[in-house]
Amino acid sequence: MTRLEAIEADITTLAVDVIVNAANTSLMGGGGVDGAIHRAGGPDIRKDCMAIVERDGPLPTGRAVITKAGKMPAGHVVHTVGPVWGTVGEQEAVALLASCYRSSLDLARDASAASIAFPNISTGIYHFPKPLAAETAIKAVSAWVDDDPVTLESVTFVCFDRENLVLYRDLLRV
Ligand code: APR
Repeated sequence: MTRLEAIEADITTLAVDVIVNAANTSLMGGGGVDGAIHRAGGPDIRKDCMAIVERDGPLPTGRAVITKAGKMPAGHVVHTVGPVWGTVGEQEAVALLASCYRSSLDLARDASAASIAFPNISTGIYHFPKPLAAETAIKAVSAWVDDDPVTLESVTFVCFDRENLVLYRDLLRV
């Protein structure tokens, strides 16, 4: 059965099969966790991203793509674009955020990953309210794991602030 856990860490340091990046549609990097991943991973990641954008165009919100992890201990990076709070209605924002988690899990499975780590997608620069984002993330991941309880050994929610850690741990009741 897949283990769900919440930790406080810098996602770029984790030796898991897949780390997830909260990217933007250009895939060219940015601030927040996107900046941290590109800085820690090095130019190979941007090279992969540029090839993807050249082939497929900008990444739509809610979708995900996979690249190498460059110099980081993780095996791969899944880049996904979360919704910007306030640009669509709440229901659509929740659906798009849930799609980020599902699409990322699907790509992790396709890459034969056993472990994946998510940041708190959209809750920084994109201002998605943290409580609703945490609830959406855990609901989406739990539904995916209920459907496929064997592929992944672990899903880690990597929090970068105490507020998110408390929210996730309360929801996961750990
Ligand atoms: N490890 C784990 N989590 C991190 C790290 C890190 N090294 N750095 C930041 N975070 C956390 C933030 O504290 C926040 O909780 O990641 C979460 C997501 O915040 P952002 O990185 O701001 O991402 P998001 O809100 O989805 O906005 C995406 O920001 O960086 C740009 O290019 C990116 O345009 C995109 C937008």
